[in-house]
Amino acid sequence: MKLHPSKPLHGTITVPGDKSVSHRSVMLGALADGVTHVSGFLMGEDCLSTIDCFRKMGVTVEIGDDHTVTVHGVGLHGLHEPSERLYTGNSGTTTRLISGILSGQSFPVSLTGDASIEKRPMGRVIVPLRQMGAEINGIDDKFCPLTIRPSKLHGIEYTLPVASAQLKSAILLAGLYADTPTTVIEPAPSRDHTERMLRALGCRVETEGCRITVYPPTQLTASDVTVPADISSAAFFLVAGAIVPNSVITIRNVGVNPTRDGVIEVLQNMGAEITMDNLRDDGEPICDLTIRASKLHGTEISGDIIPRLIDELPVLAVAAACAEGTTVIRDAAELKVKESNRIAAMVTELTRAGADVTETADGMVIHGGKPLHGAVFETYQDHRIAMSMAVCALVCSGESEIQGEDVVAVSYPNFFDTLSALGGGTDASAL
Ligand code: S3P
Repeated sequence: MKLHPSKPLHGTITVPGDKSVSHRSVMLGALADGVTHVSGFLMGEDCLSTIDCFRKMGVTVEIGDDHTVTVHGVGLHGLHEPSERLYTGNSGTTTRLISGILSGQSFPVSLTGDASIEKRPMGRVIVPLRQMGAEINGIDDKFCPLTIRPSKLHGIEYTLPVASAQLKSAILLAGLYADTPTTVIEPAPSRDHTERMLRALGCRVETEGCRITVYPPTQLTASDVTVPADISSAAFFLVAGAIVPNSVITIRNVGVNPTRDGVIEVLQNMGAEITMDNLRDDGEPICDLTIRASKLHGTEISGDIIPRLIDELPVLAVAAACAEGTTVIRDAAELKVKESNRIAAMVTELTRAGADVTETADGMVIHGGKPLHGAVFETYQDHRIAMSMAVCALVCSGESEIQGEDVVAVSYPNFFDTLSALGGGTDASAL
């Protein structure tokens, strides 16, 4: 994909459905009694991997037109033994959340994903699930493929070593099958979509600060899901709109769950002009976001806000490279174990564009405002690196190339179409 310096970006767009909510709608819809109608589902590769896994366990999932999905729930104890190993593709969320569900089943199962998944840490789910009584094994107790055999689960109280919603959710989902309540204590609040959806399905889930307790239900009752537009996908256009001079972009129906909205707060701290209109609640808070280009300045991103914007840090690094002054990102070591090592990837690629960026043990330091120039950018087979560098290319002088841009299909299949619809960078004649 070749990209060029961009003219101002203008327009109203809708970005795809939230990845986290889409995964959970299928998983919990499958375990519920009754039929779940999902609208706004993200038809990205990761969420299709979740559908594939549940179909292999006997759940009927119909994919309709216009981002609708219908899940025919089989109840908490209605999944069937799959005839083959489950394959979770590139999806960490599928792999970790499903491990919690599978720990409570009465059949053995094994699962793995692509080369990236086989390198991602699974010890963090193996340890607490074993404490609950699960018979779960992985390579060196740390990596996929995982094998899970039937066992009786009991409730535990577990303090998470990292603020991870995937880990929290894996334990809470196993907790559905335990004989006593399960409590998870997080170091800082992470996305709470699992808790919200479980409550909507009639399950008792109590949250007191960073302490979440799930009470094992006798059943879950199906409830339709409206998936908000994904703030993590919107973030690419928030940053693009902020850094391409004279841009104005409105993004409709974006999920602004307070455990996910850190990107808005940080961009506003950097001087971005963002307005939130039509705030409403549809199971998740949603609103329309409008961004107007403005001068940005450096900031510090650290502490409890990190889990609220973990997936947006690569594109925030692009914003920081365009801002006046220094931006320090700290407490973000988790970025190293995402689809790629996102600290190393962004430092390498932004440096290629001429930015002044230094890697640190748990983040990076970016001295912004250096002139950026086009280059051939690598994606590390990571969708968010590909889209972040595409946004960067909009403000680079000369031509840029994104190598392996197809990886955006993991979370945002028509990303480049939306970018060019706004007038951005993909068409040299637009200059
Ligand atoms: C997710 C949680 C986050 C995030 C991922 C989706 C989820 O991962 O990075 O893209 O849906 O629970 P961690 O829980 O590992 O931080």
